[in-house]
Amino acid sequence: MMHFDDALLDLHELLKNLLNNTRENRVITMAELTWKGKHNTDAQHFTGEQSYLSSPQLNTLETFSNQLQENSLQTNLSPPPTWFNRLICGDKSQVLPALMREFANSINLIYIDPPFMTGRDFTTGTQLAYSDKWDNDLDVYLQWLYETFVQLHRLLAQDGSLYIHLDWRATHYAKVILDEVFGYRPDADGPGFKSEIIWHYQSGGRSHKCYARKHDTILLYTRSAQYCFHGERIGERRGTQKRNHMRKQMGSDGRVTWTIRSAGRIYSYDEDAIMTPSDVWNDIGHLHQKDPERNGYATQKPAALLERIILASSEESDLILDCFCGSGATPAVAEQLGRRWIACDQSTLAIQMTEKRLLAQKQFRPFVLQRVNP
Ligand SMILES: C[S@@+](CC[C@H](N)C(=O)[O-])C[C@H]1O[C@@H](n2cnc3c(N)ncnc32)[C@H](O)[C@@H]1O
Repeated sequence: MMHFDDALLDLHELLKNLLNNTRENRVITMAELTWKGKHNTDAQHFTGEQSYLSSPQLNTLETFSNQLQENSLQTNLSPPPTWFNRLICGDKSQVLPALMREFANSINLIYIDPPFMTGRDFTTGTQLAYSDKWDNDLDVYLQWLYETFVQLHRLLAQDGSLYIHLDWRATHYAKVILDEVFGYRPDADGPGFKSEIIWHYQSGGRSHKCYARKHDTILLYTRSAQYCFHGERIGERRGTQKRNHMRKQMGSDGRVTWTIRSAGRIYSYDEDAIMTPSDVWNDIGHLHQKDPERNGYATQKPAALLERIILASSEESDLILDCFCGSGATPAVAEQLGRRWIACDQSTLAIQMTEKRLLAQKQFRPFVLQRVNP
């Protein structure tokens, strides 16, 4: 039988080793979120260049092209397309490493709307769309988010942007993890955090126990201090509404400006000037059950949301990635706005719906349907 003191010594030794392993001799330079199993994972497994060489391959199952466009291309004697957009059926933990060799440092814009850790299954009709249960284990979910963020960070171009769509359940954790992955600056002027967008809507119920939950949060992080942002494309006209403490002036050309003096400087705004939108978006509603845009996918997001993000943070022909594409809002809007896209989802139902949605568009550029090689 083991003596009590020996057992205590063993336990002490075990804890010491565990702590050493866990810290991996890392120098922690800023506040950091930890969870069970965070540093036990071999970071090389999901970040190291080595692993990309042996990463899964993508297999093309089918190519889709628009017959009308194809005919006109042929009559114009244009060269065949060199780029095919990609719809990929597979788990992001296999798809992202498979994309790394070709696309590391080259994606201009990433939008993700991952499972929120709601603890429930989502169905479309009677078919399971996806499970968001995680065995009720927050640590498992956080590790999964962390690995996703690390891989997406590596895929982003130096001037690329990442939008992460979550809600009250995990936004606060995601923000701390993203600060670790992208870097943190209190003035938000370098790489990293740029905006926390509140998408405010009216749908959903009201509780008697707390304030009604009427918003999702969309975080914007950029890989560097240089990034694409066009507030003017999505802004609104300042308009004619009277402004407190401002003086209205009419110019000789009939243009109206509003002026204010503050701290010795004069600020003046033209009524026709376009304002950069604020970080509270309350002009885009959730898709209600009978909305013609709805295709039945459980957590479908409105195209208007994606349109705003894509217009603000990308240029024509830029490459856009969504690795949780669900009903296909991101590739559909990217296609309409002339961007290139890569969309992935682990759910066959999601891929079928996205394919159908893309094929239903009047015009689309050729895309391939791919799957990760087993
Ligand atoms: C909130 S939904 C996305 C909805 C989408 N934005 C839309 O507008 O329809 C989350 C999606 O993530 C997918 N998903 C969950 N885990 C995944 C994984 N490991 N790899 C790839 N996709 C995954 C689910 O199948 C689901 O379609």
